[in-house]
Amino acid sequence: MNLLKDKIAFLVEETVKKEFGDIEFQVKIDYPSADAHGDYSVNVAFELGKKLGKASRAIAETLAQKIKLPDWISRVECAGPGFLNFFIAPQFLTDFLQEVIDEGEKFGSSKIAAGKTVVTDTSHPNVAKPMGVHHLLSTIIGCALNKMFNAVGYKVIRDNYLGDYGTQFGKLIYAYKTWGSEETVKKNPIPELLKLYVKFHDEVEKDVALEDRGRAEFKKLEGGDSENRKLWKWIVDLSLQEFQGIYDRLDVSFDYIHGESFYEDKMRAIIDMGIKKGVFVTGEGGALIAPFENEKYPPCLIKKSDGATLYATRDLARTKYWEDTWHPDLMVMVVDVAQSLHFQQFFEVARMLKITKAPNIHVSFGRMSFPEKRMSTRKGNIILLEEVLDEAEERALKLVEEKNPDLSEKQKKAVARQVGIGAMKYAVLSQNRTTDITFTWDKMLSLEGNSAPYLQYVYARARAILRKRGEENFRGGKYILTEPQELALAKLLPKLPEVVVHAAQEFKPNLIANYLFEVAQRFNGFYAAQEVLKAKPEIRAARLKLVEAATVVIKNGLKLLGIEVPEEM
Ligand code: ARG
Repeated sequence: MNLLKDKIAFLVEETVKKEFGDIEFQVKIDYPSADAHGDYSVNVAFELGKKLGKASRAIAETLAQKIKLPDWISRVECAGPGFLNFFIAPQFLTDFLQEVIDEGEKFGSSKIAAGKTVVTDTSHPNVAKPMGVHHLLSTIIGCALNKMFNAVGYKVIRDNYLGDYGTQFGKLIYAYKTWGSEETVKKNPIPELLKLYVKFHDEVEKDVALEDRGRAEFKKLEGGDSENRKLWKWIVDLSLQEFQGIYDRLDVSFDYIHGESFYEDKMRAIIDMGIKKGVFVTGEGGALIAPFENEKYPPCLIKKSDGATLYATRDLARTKYWEDTWHPDLMVMVVDVAQSLHFQQFFEVARMLKITKAPNIHVSFGRMSFPEKRMSTRKGNIILLEEVLDEAEERALKLVEEKNPDLSEKQKKAVARQVGIGAMKYAVLSQNRTTDITFTWDKMLSLEGNSAPYLQYVYARARAILRKRGEENFRGGKYILTEPQELALAKLLPKLPEVVVHAAQEFKPNLIANYLFEVAQRFNGFYAAQEVLKAKPEIRAARLKLVEAATVVIKNGLKLLGIEVPEEM
């Protein structure tokens, strides 16, 4: 299906060319916020007015008159100083409901990016440490982006760039050998490893010489020392098992886990390339650095004076590997805003080295704060994700017990999982990711506000209506949607694929969330104002279709955010 918005843009373009000849212009489609201003709006008359030295209003009037309207557009109006507002025909909106229903799961997807490949770097927690909140955000936002990219036609390669390498492993290995034991670590891997790591830092305060010991252990690891390799591998495996538990609960998966260590033997080539191209030069104390023109950024450190490679070196090797392996059209890294400088630096170095032509995008996100004491920091400043997820499910279970005590225990548990995890994800995804997110349980689980449970509840209610419809023939009704509330809902539905495209282009899942919230609100408005099951047969059939099409939209939209919908709630 072609997007309505593209069809309208095409119509306008053709008319402009015919009426105003050879002139450069661009048609941008907007969604008016008030229904009175139509369903789609175009402001090309302003650009044309400037270029032709004519009044924009006059141009808009000419275009409104000359555009040959297809039957799915009921009218176009000229408004204000030169807007063109298009109104979709109720007949079309009514017929479209069946299309939505027939497309089912596929409705919402498009082929805008067909034939293109995107590689994404999401989640990427650090081994031997609990997964932090920023990793949770990267995992949830990344999962949604992956689904959105897929829905607009990209071939998506999901690579988890695990933090499994670097000098800190030397410290950890030293600490383990000195104070650790296999038994205690096995029993409670991540907390014990974290303890050892913290202990190392405490001890360094008393004896700086330990720094060197840590470094020496890392050197041994890098050099292939079999004991250290074995230890390191063991630590990575223990951590992966732990992370997998969280991934399973969140229902996220990856195509590859190429951790930082994967690039160990791929950095040499980058270093040689940089030196040969004159991009890397020797800096203070013999370190290798990449300086920038006009000191745009501080120099990027490529190799320390002791020969150790760095985070940026590995990212460059990763970029080259991605390019050589998949020739992607787009590379996306979903990472905390705190790392912005790092990304600016190594993107610029990658450009200087000409490693790839694909745009490299750092999809950054802000902090998530937990003002409620119970959620914050039990140990140091680390929030244990497992506990947050447990609490989300527990609270959701209470909600389900209140709302629907008749469900079986098993059903309640299943719904609580969908609602609890869904609420958590939605709390992250519905906010503009670039601003800081404040996380509060009540808001997250509210049945009235902009939350996953609210949307899930609307969905479940709609499904309950559909279960009562019985065996009816829905096709061929003559009723055309006319009531304002039913039209208000119906005209939102064809926009799902457009919203998905927009959200994927801007890397903003919240555009989908906002849209779904609007659909749910309009659904409630419609259901409160109009009879469905008790309406006359023809009207009833059309309205049932409207209900069903709305469930398809809510379900598919939430699925793109990684959120499931319960049939009953
Ligand atoms: N593991 C890193 C951290 O937790 C994040 C990796 C981000 N991705 C990248 N390509 N640098 O800080």
